[in-house]
Amino acid sequence: MRYVVTGAAGFIGSQLGEALAAAGHGVVGVDCFTDSYDPAEKERNAAALDVSRIDLAEEPLDLDGVDGVFHLAAQAGVRSFGDVFPLYVRRNVLATQRVLEAAAAAGVRVVLASSSSIYGEAEAYPTPEDAEPRPISPYGITKLACEHLARAYAVGFGLDAVVLRYFTVYGPRQRPDMFFRRVCEALLAGTTFEIYGSGGQSRSFTYVGDAVEATVTAMERAPAGAVYNVGGGEEASMLEAIALLERISGRSLDTRRIDAARGDVARTKADVSRIRDALGWEPRTSLDDGLSAMWSWASGKVAAA
Ligand code: UGA
Repeated sequence: MRYVVTGAAGFIGSQLGEALAAAGHGVVGVDCFTDSYDPAEKERNAAALDVSRIDLAEEPLDLDGVDGVFHLAAQAGVRSFGDVFPLYVRRNVLATQRVLEAAAAAGVRVVLASSSSIYGEAEAYPTPEDAEPRPISPYGITKLACEHLARAYAVGFGLDAVVLRYFTVYGPRQRPDMFFRRVCEALLAGTTFEIYGSGGQSRSFTYVGDAVEATVTAMERAPAGAVYNVGGGEEASMLEAIALLERISGRSLDTRRIDAARGDVARTKADVSRIRDALGWEPRTSLDDGLSAMWSWASGKVAAA
């Protein structure tokens, strides 16, 4: 098969592209290399792939001869109030609308990367896909808008779209603004790590390899219109997660509490029974194993530098 991966220089997109290529598929990578974080890091992520530099919000996406689109390109991160909001609208809502338009015209399936942040403070834990979406971050609102757009294109133009709601994905190449990446870097540099709020907030952390596997399976086997949670099996609070990384690294983390971040939810816990029943996918990597892999990657990067 020949697949387009948008966001192919990103944390998840680059590893998805590599997995598809390893499985013998043709991969057309697309990325805008924005400065949401150091573009040189994105270049390194994409080193094994052929990635075209395209701004999806204004440039055309050529889907000739393509069997499916994995749309992972986005302005990510839930801490999204303030001046950055126009970037979220452009890189999430506008870019996605244009990808969906192109895919509908070409009759090509889209697997759309959405987010647990669409649930906000969820009405139930574990949270099933039919829980009422009530995001509390501008980012979550743009991701929910993308989901609604996919549905509108399905109804209006027969678009074949599958939505995946990723829950706090971690592992090698994690974005520099994210929790585990920052904890690893503070442990390695001996600097102070800032915990937003009490540290009692918890997440269904999802290992990147598991997320990639769910994403490929969804492209291959999900029914059109499906919406799935893609979440890790073990929920952990930030304080528990720090303790685990301290044990893995053999180091101790100096921490400081600062104000809770607006837009952050207190808890996520994925109900993955729908994707397990439909596609046979479930998270396989324990937090211990996933964090060990992440620590090896982060410490290897420092050693190489
Ligand atoms: C993550 C991603 O950043 C989003 O792009 C994604 O859509 C979302 O997961 C999701 O579930 O879909 P988040 O859960 O906030 O969002 O992930 P982290 O940035 O790793 O933060 C986890 C927790 O650590 C948050 O409660 C945050 O407040 C806390 N944190 C983060 C700190 O205490 N200090 C930091 O320096 C960074």
